[in-house]
Amino acid sequence: MSKLKFMKPFTQQEPIPEQAKKKVMELLDSGRLHRYNTVGSELSDAALLEQDFAQYQGRKYCLACTSGGYGLHIALRAMGLQAGDEVLTNAYTLAPVPGAIHAAGGKPVLVEIDNNYHLDLTDLEAKAKGSNAKILLLSLMRGHIPNMDQLMALCNKLGLQVLEDCAHTMGGAWSGVKSGNFGQVAAFSLQTYKHMNTGEGGLVVTDDAEVAARLIMHSGSYMFYERHGAAPAPEVFEKIRLTSANMSGRMDNIRAVIGLAQLPGLDKNCERWNQRYNILHSSIALISGLDIPARDKRESFVGSSLQFRATGLDVEQIPDFIAACVAQGVELKWFGAAQPNAFTSRYDSWHYIEPMPHLPNTLKALEKTLDLRVPLTFNDEDCYLIGAVIEQVMAQFMGR
Ligand SMILES: Cc1ncc(COP(=O)(O)O)c(C=O)c1O
Repeated sequence: MSKLKFMKPFTQQEPIPEQAKKKVMELLDSGRLHRYNTVGSELSDAALLEQDFAQYQGRKYCLACTSGGYGLHIALRAMGLQAGDEVLTNAYTLAPVPGAIHAAGGKPVLVEIDNNYHLDLTDLEAKAKGSNAKILLLSLMRGHIPNMDQLMALCNKLGLQVLEDCAHTMGGAWSGVKSGNFGQVAAFSLQTYKHMNTGEGGLVVTDDAEVAARLIMHSGSYMFYERHGAAPAPEVFEKIRLTSANMSGRMDNIRAVIGLAQLPGLDKNCERWNQRYNILHSSIALISGLDIPARDKRESFVGSSLQFRATGLDVEQIPDFIAACVAQGVELKWFGAAQPNAFTSRYDSWHYIEPMPHLPNTLKALEKTLDLRVPLTFNDEDCYLIGAVIEQVMAQFMGR
């Protein structure tokens, strides 16, 4: 049989909605790109984005800022992290997550994950008891949402505050509660490959007035905090405004209008991702030698990427398997790779973490884990073809 070939790029995003383009042109004409460049009681586009996202999420306060990673960094500070404090976080995440802890002056304490890519609660309890950490930075890496009822019950028992990293779960939920509404604070990313694409950008939400005020001060509000769209009352700022350092990381109006135009279509897009994910899932699940970890029915995830394990291959065969898929147009990432590459990095490549723990369960869970991006620019036929390519390549490796 001749080799199948997939021809579309895995990094192509959909066009930005027309109304955003029009607004961007108007903004360029006005020159008023800075979020505080407003007249009278007018709200800037950045402030409007905060208002709309707070409403979408069902949270009281929202800050728009420069990136998801920056949002995590200032959230840690706003939650009271002091220099040298330890912060618990999953060992399966992306480099900006331990990087945010480092930037805030904290020390990451990496917690094992289980076979389903969720935080291991037994290890969490042990590490919480063995450290001075008061915060868990829960990274919902690749959109895998654990049993949040159990996780929050344990964190409450241990007295841990939770900061949710929702870079991959915008639009997702656990048991009907939106991801990002469990912890004290949650940060979302608007970077190009996320569920809303403003190029770069972040949104941080909370119901805690003082934390929200600190977030706004840290983001560099130049005392213009009354010009925010979803902020606490001015008197809340009185207490903290002179003790919260300005770490400039503001959202600008161009990105804000791009985000504002996408928010009304977010839920529909999540359904479109899941339609593509389901096709890929049903194809890959049937391929012998590949295994997709099961997901709980209560998890409403957004299928913007799919992870599976090449259990039928030896670890040494994985680079060749990936190369064979790439030769037929299908790009896969390998979360078990010893060297950091593109958007993946195994925890043991973050050498600034000291002492570097050995986490055998995480290494095992990632050892044969492959990752497939699911852009909305792929249609149903594309997803069937990708499944067929992977099946064909796997058959060669399995000697069929
Ligand atoms: C799991 C995870 N958390 C946080 C971030 C940080 O987002 P940003 O790139 O907006 O800083 C990313 C970025 O890709 C991510 O994948």
